[in-house]
Amino acid sequence: MSVGRSHVESAYMQWAKLHSGAPVNLATSAIAALSMGDLPVHLEDLALNAPGSYGYAPLMERLGSYLGVSADSIVTAPGTSMANLLAMAATFEPGDEVLFERPTYEPMLQTAVFLGAEVRRFERRREDGFRADPDELRRRITPQTRLVVLANLHNPTSALTLEDDLRAIGEIARGVGARVLVDEVYLEALFYRRPPAALRLGPEFVSTSSLTKAYGLGGLRCGWVVAEPELARRIWRIRDLHDVNSASVAERISAIVMDQREKLEERGETLLGTNRPIIERFLDEHPEMEVSRPPFGTVLMLRAPIAPSSRRAASGDADEFCRLLRERYETSVVPGAFFDMPDCFRVGIGGGTEELEEGLERLAAASAEFQKRGA
Ligand SMILES: Cc1ncc(COP(=O)(O)O)c(C=O)c1O
Repeated sequence: MSVGRSHVESAYMQWAKLHSGAPVNLATSAIAALSMGDLPVHLEDLALNAPGSYGYAPLMERLGSYLGVSADSIVTAPGTSMANLLAMAATFEPGDEVLFERPTYEPMLQTAVFLGAEVRRFERRREDGFRADPDELRRRITPQTRLVVLANLHNPTSALTLEDDLRAIGEIARGVGARVLVDEVYLEALFYRRPPAALRLGPEFVSTSSLTKAYGLGGLRCGWVVAEPELARRIWRIRDLHDVNSASVAERISAIVMDQREKLEERGETLLGTNRPIIERFLDEHPEMEVSRPPFGTVLMLRAPIAPSSRRAASGDADEFCRLLRERYETSVVPGAFFDMPDCFRVGIGGGTEELEEGLERLAAASAEFQKRGA
């Protein structure tokens, strides 16, 4: 049964906007933010106004060569969020069945509900390293499914879906006349190893992404959809209903960013290359917290410690632990309940190295205190 549109909201986004900040913030999922001074941007290169168009040509060209597709397969959008909404609006009708991964990024799921989807779920299982398993999809898909949705890398676990699995998922979807939407926003953090957009695997694939995560440029709202040209045209028609122009200042800065890509990729690689061994050492010292060890990405899930008072319960209570961590240790992480993983919490590793080290120290201290409580 679909939910009335006027009641749909994102509990996660409200939390992220109002409550995720803290003196030590491990709740963010992006690489440390860039500032204007990091980019060769000169006021005279920008334009406050520009003629309406279907994408600023220099940006479309640069995105095309970055993503390995022609410009007629790209639709720009304000961030991956709006790209997801546009892609979904073009691929199913209200009342259609949409098959969503679990765990998932909640605002994306709520967007599908907002658009009237009848949501079904397929599971990414812990014991399977959160793989998007084609066999699981085959069990869950029905002749009514119009769209399959997953994120690659997966949010919140950073599991990478390999090309063979993606190809198999595409075949299964094609078999019932469905498309596959792949949110690739975390794939950008593979940098020079990033595979071309999922469209390379077949016309049933639609993907979305932005410069938000890997480039620390969430404020630029430079996002895009990649789809076969006919679907891309349909998506532009939907964008016509919402936008007259794109923000021309942001488009021009985005083109400048694309010209700086190698330098910015090196920055992200260096930061993750420094931070990953730090979280790995932490997991070596706290094996009880390990859920999975993704080799890529900017986030990972940890298991919350279990307070003695609830030892008989099979799993910990991440909400209570996150509250202690925030209130007594001024450190924020994302409670796993937002991802249907109530015994876990998500940690970001793409921020400053000192902040990560400080946050993990506080995490260890909070865990020790939590486990002693009520003992
Ligand atoms: C899977 C996923 N898609 C989209 C977004 C939002 O990206 P953007 O800021 O580009 O809209 C996020 C942010 O957390 C995300 O995790």
